[in-house]
Amino acid sequence: MKQDFIDGIGRHDTPFYYYDLDVLHSTLHAIAATQPVDSIVHYALKANSDLRLLSIIAQRGLGADCVSGGEIQRAISAGIHPQHIVYSGVGKTDREIEYALSCNIDCFNVESLAELQVIDSLAAACGKIAPVAFRINPHIDAHTHHYITTGTSETKFGIDISQLDQAIECAVALSHVRLRGLHFHIGSQILSLEPYCMLCSTINRLQEQLAERGIDIDYINVGGGLGIDYDSPDENTIPPFAQYFDIFKKQLQLQPGVKLHFELGRSIVGQCGSLISRVLYVKEGVDRDFVILDAGMTELIRPALYQASHLIENLTSQAEVQPYDIVGPVCETSDTFGSHIMLPTTHRGDIIAIRSAGAYAQSMAMTYNSRPLAPAVYSE
Ligand code: LLP
Repeated sequence: MKQDFIDGIGRHDTPFYYYDLDVLHSTLHAIAATQPVDSIVHYALKANSDLRLLSIIAQRGLGADCVSGGEIQRAISAGIHPQHIVYSGVGKTDREIEYALSCNIDCFNVESLAELQVIDSLAAACGKIAPVAFRINPHIDAHTHHYITTGTSETKFGIDISQLDQAIECAVALSHVRLRGLHFHIGSQILSLEPYCMLCSTINRLQEQLAERGIDIDYINVGGGLGIDYDSPDENTIPPFAQYFDIFKKQLQLQPGVKLHFELGRSIVGQCGSLISRVLYVKEGVDRDFVILDAGMTELIRPALYQASHLIENLTSQAEVQPYDIVGPVCETSDTFGSHIMLPTTHRGDIIAIRSAGAYAQSMAMTYNSRPLAPAVYSE
């Protein structure tokens, strides 16, 4: 964290999200330097749809992966061209589909046959042909948290790989959809690259099957999911993009004319953000001491929802370390950022940074307990 930022923290009300734009720029630079030629990276807005971050991402030429009409609107207002927008989600509403059609987005990632039929009829009603790809559930276990596993057969996402033939028949029979290809997303915070190797072999196999059936495609979307280092954000600020992209460069055999799409969220914005909070009280308990912050699960729900751990730092004390339970002010026992966390001796008024909070923090914020939404502060 930059020293001049720490020195100036007193000027800001807490809690707030702090975004280091240099980190964002370096991350985007690393992606551009390593992504496969002729591929497009769509930024997954669900990770963080802050307009300042989005406009930097847009200026770098990334596309957008959206999961609601609201996200499509935000992506466009940040300067992302609709032809670089893809739209996923198991529950697209009629109004959202109509809006996406009116914007002429690049592709609908379709998650069920029921949805395909609705897209076809809404496209017919406005005299358009909707570009679609099937989101296929490839039965790959990405070994990540249960709540963010999406590629196995018992999740609500995608069309099961065993139902692909039926889906193709259905798409071919409909006159207002054009099947462009296949979409996959096997999970999030994936730290082993092995599941991506398995994904490449599945895609190679499916492409052949499609070619045998005479189906011409121009779109393969491998989703997102590349994880970040929550324990050592300063040592591993930039995720291992080169190794990640290398797998696709080496193992994916794309048919001629097929464009490769990625949908990365966390790995793009995760490390540029921190949640900054003030210590309200240090409370001596029976067998532990609690540091009670003015930020809680309302600003960062990941620890409460997924038992996620984020590095916690006291920015204003250099005293001897001792263990604390770090908790928020919300009336829920799960409003805890960590137990037995070693911090320098901490006092009321100290400033605490909860690191790696650029992704799925501000975008998942809520107003429970009638708490106001926390603002964002930028390094420039
Ligand atoms: N594409 C699709 C279809 C997705 O569902 C997701 C994330 C992404 C791309 C982007 O994945 P990423 O590169 O960010 O891993 N709130 C959870 C994460 C939920 C991810 C949902 N889908 C968390 O805080 O860990």
